[in-house]
Amino acid sequence: MALIKQASIQAVLDACDMLEVVAPYTTLKKSGSNFMGRCPFHGEKTPSFSVDPAQKLYYCFGCGEGGNVFSFIEKKEGFDFADAVKMLADKYGVRLQYEESSPELEEKRQRQERLLAVLDQTASYYSRCLQESAAAAAARRYLADRGFGEEVIKEFRLGFSPPGGQSLIKAASGKEYTAAELSRAGLAIERNGRAYDRFRNRLMFPFTDHRGRVLGFGARVLDDSKPKYLNSPDSGLYHKTNLAFGLGNARAAITREDRAYIVEGYTDVLALNQAGIVNAVASMGTALTEQQLREISRFTRNIFLAFDADAAGQAAMLRALELAKKLGLSVRVVQMPQGKDPADLMLDDGGPGAFKELAAAAPTLLEYQVQVALSASGIDTSEGRIKAFSALKQILAGAANSIERDEQLRIIADRLRLSPENVAYLMVSAPLNDNSGDGGTRRRVLSHEEIAERSFLSLCLENPGEARRYLQLMTDAHFTTESHRAAFNWVRERLEEKNDGSGIDHARMPLDSKAREVLPELMIRSRTESSSPEALPEFYFRLCEAELSRRISAIKARVAGGSENGSELKELYRLEARRRDILQLIQAGTYETV
Ligand code: UTP
Ligand code: MN
Repeated sequence: MALIKQASIQAVLDACDMLEVVAPYTTLKKSGSNFMGRCPFHGEKTPSFSVDPAQKLYYCFGCGEGGNVFSFIEKKEGFDFADAVKMLADKYGVRLQYEESSPELEEKRQRQERLLAVLDQTASYYSRCLQESAAAAAARRYLADRGFGEEVIKEFRLGFSPPGGQSLIKAASGKEYTAAELSRAGLAIERNGRAYDRFRNRLMFPFTDHRGRVLGFGARVLDDSKPKYLNSPDSGLYHKTNLAFGLGNARAAITREDRAYIVEGYTDVLALNQAGIVNAVASMGTALTEQQLREISRFTRNIFLAFDADAAGQAAMLRALELAKKLGLSVRVVQMPQGKDPADLMLDDGGPGAFKELAAAAPTLLEYQVQVALSASGIDTSEGRIKAFSALKQILAGAANSIERDEQLRIIADRLRLSPENVAYLMVSAPLNDNSGDGGTRRRVLSHEEIAERSFLSLCLENPGEARRYLQLMTDAHFTTESHRAAFNWVRERLEEKNDGSGIDHARMPLDSKAREVLPELMIRSRTESSSPEALPEFYFRLCEAELSRRISAIKARVAGGSENGSELKELYRLEARRRDILQLIQAGTYETV
């Protein structure tokens, strides 16, 4: 991929509105010069996610995630840096300029863009056909019969692919797209050297990514013939198993409600959406994949599965448990009435209300598993109870935390009429897999030295003019962690580049991964905490003192190990003397000597 020019990156940074970028992922409230909200990177109840709209930085005091507007998009959308810049450039209408790139790369980029354009225009074409063509009369009637109105048809850009086999090809050639390009986009098939429309006489459901770009189609027959749905083949642009159908339409509502419903079918999403339940996406069949869950989990950690009440749906839900545990998501099961999917339910009187009630009563996935095991094994017989017992042992081994497990144990003991001894046995033999925390475990306690180093760096960021002379006197040895050393070097280099003391340009921050671990926090702190330049020398000398102490300890250790020589002892006295001087300076609080 061609390299985006630094000036373009800066232009995007200047153009974008940090609050607007963050808004789809969490709700922010003003707090001083910053904004606070619940962290979109870990589950939490009280807000510890801070955004600085002026500097376009974010930092979570809970989990430690931090960065600028680009890294925010990278992390939330799973993009690399270039894609994050591109997305924001699109959003804010900045035209990107690229460094001279190889002709091959440039061609590949353009081919990809053309493919996306073909798909988008094809969606528009199918949609026009559905609205206007005589051949689509049956399709229009079909939608009306199923209760789908104009609004939802527009929202999801539903369409109709004309019968025949040449309609799209002809329409596309008018726009100068070749049949070969249509094939590459999965829209045409070539047989015996001749190209045909892949989709004929079908209702068309565009698949979009979460940015709303059309990547493919699902196509339904209008009668009972098979296959019911024909889908675009996997391509360089997308894999069906990576996409959650409707996420582009649902993402804002998912964030707002902090929950997502996952259903099986396209029509389930449409019907729910039409009933005002907008935060729903489809797994497109029953096999919910890890990638789909990852996509959805960018917007919420609370997943509600509303799969069909059949064996396949049940199996899919149990499979989802494994994935959800791996991703640290909370999963509940909306138990659909036997033989109905959400689309069917929406057609009933009071359907939407019934769905919401089912959702409110939704058991956790573990509770659901226990229920399934208990109802499967015929617990009226002792044989059935023994079978259920061993199934439950397995299930409990997968409990996310001890609270959940204890609760389940009570239900099971009750239902199985187990003796307390058996309950205890169940407890012991099921190993606990405790990953129940709220994701904030990455945060560790900082040493005194680390705290002082951070305060110092933070002061440097706030007072670049005064900081330079201190930074010039320092080395890596003044800092105790790799990320602090990286941050120190980054700050020093930036300030040396900019001799006017005008502060720091953080457009390039995403390029330095170690420094990135601490810089956003320091930058945000530097704007929220009192930070007058008078504190700089004190912290400088504190770091010097700490550095001397570390050297002294190292020498002492060597001396104690018996490997002393005269020169090391001399060095030891020299360092001790210097350390005493510095301690006196700190105590007196006068620092003219620097
Ligand atoms: P369903 O058979 O439940 O279809 O398959 P549906 O969505 O309820 O459709 P309607 O309401 O009968 O029109 C659920 C999902 O499985 C995928 C589709 O994504 C579908 O929405 N599927 C199903 C296919 O991809 N191909 C098929 O042949 C059938
Ligand atoms: Mn269905």
